[in-house]
Amino acid sequence: MPKYRIALMPGDGIGKDVMDGARIVLDKIELDAEYIPADIGWKFWCLEGDPLPQRTIDMLKTCDCALFAAITSKPKEEAEAELVPELQSKGLIYRSPIVRLRQMFDLYVNLRPCKAFKGNPLNYRDDVDLVVFRENTQGLYAGVEFHPLPGEVRAALEAHSPRMAAFESVPSEDIALSCRIFTREGCRRIVRRAFEYAHQFGYPTVTLVEKPNVIRETSGLMVREARQIGAEYPEIELWETNVDAMAMWMVKNPQNYGVLVSSNMFGDIVSDLAAQLVGGLGFASSGNIGDDFAVFEPTHGSAPKYAGLYKANPTAMLLAVKLMLDWLDEGETAQALEQAIADTIAEGKVRTYDLGGSNTTLEVAQSVAERL
Ligand code: NAI
Ligand code: MG
Repeated sequence: MPKYRIALMPGDGIGKDVMDGARIVLDKIELDAEYIPADIGWKFWCLEGDPLPQRTIDMLKTCDCALFAAITSKPKEEAEAELVPELQSKGLIYRSPIVRLRQMFDLYVNLRPCKAFKGNPLNYRDDVDLVVFRENTQGLYAGVEFHPLPGEVRAALEAHSPRMAAFESVPSEDIALSCRIFTREGCRRIVRRAFEYAHQFGYPTVTLVEKPNVIRETSGLMVREARQIGAEYPEIELWETNVDAMAMWMVKNPQNYGVLVSSNMFGDIVSDLAAQLVGGLGFASSGNIGDDFAVFEPTHGSAPKYAGLYKANPTAMLLAVKLMLDWLDEGETAQALEQAIADTIAEGKVRTYDLGGSNTTLEVAQSVAERL
């Protein structure tokens, strides 16, 4: 029996193109793995009313991890209009499958490494090497939201916070509330994973990106927990920055930072900023990682206008494979893959359109595979 069971979820649009590229590299590295294709995406929403069918969830539970490429999602009304007629008016609601996977499998780490590869014409600077750890299950994206504000919630808030007086004259139907919920354990585990990573890969600093001077309770909890955990890693410095100032520093001096850690929404924003510094969508990969399951993905979407044309840059997808190899403890293979990607970029002969070239997705993947 192969050592690993890995689910492959190409999804929609260019998801299939870049996953085909990943297969070329996976076949070349001859990982001792069984690859199991799995259904996810728009087609399954339209035909079955669920973009993440139960059979996919059941199968994922038998796997060590998954590679996911990209899916299409559309606003509520459009989504309903595209359902097959027999599923329309059944009250089905489209929910993002990737968000569901994160919550279902408690994938609390969103890992987004952003390294400038030498020779990438899209680099903002050539010496950027940032690794963002974003909390992936709590905070403002936990989905505890109200509009209008229910009477009982309002009464409780008024009873417990004098600050509610500022909203006294506003009717409940004119108030929307999104809760930013942090737990101590939620803060601890994301910060710990950031420090472990800095330790493993030799980064001298971990920067906590929050806003404790204003958002005292949630950001404050995270800062206090980070200081305690940081004390266990004397060789790594804990830097604390406010998220707004960090946006400025990341443009001014991104080369000064290494590992960054933040909550769900701030981390989301900071990781997109970091990604753009090293070439943007074609280069941004991420891992959604829990204690015993993980899903690795490029962060771009399904880019429908390029679907099936094999024009998309597979680099982000291949970097997602690299993250998966690290997670499986196949560090040497991961390193070799990153080097092969770096060499392909540095040589600059085989390039997709976004880098000014005319090569296909598969030619780029092939060029990486040949170096392995
Ligand atoms: P997108 O990321 O699919 O594409 C935006 C543009 O970026 C593309 O038109 C293309 O010019 C460029 N691009 C993206 N990936 C590229 C690659 N690998 N190589 C070269 N160029 C690339 O975002 P968009 O157009 O906003 O969304 C399209 C669909 O994807 C929507 O349905 C959206 O909901 C979905 N989406 C899915 C995500 C996911 O699966 N995680 C993430 C973001 C969007
Ligand atoms: Mg994002």
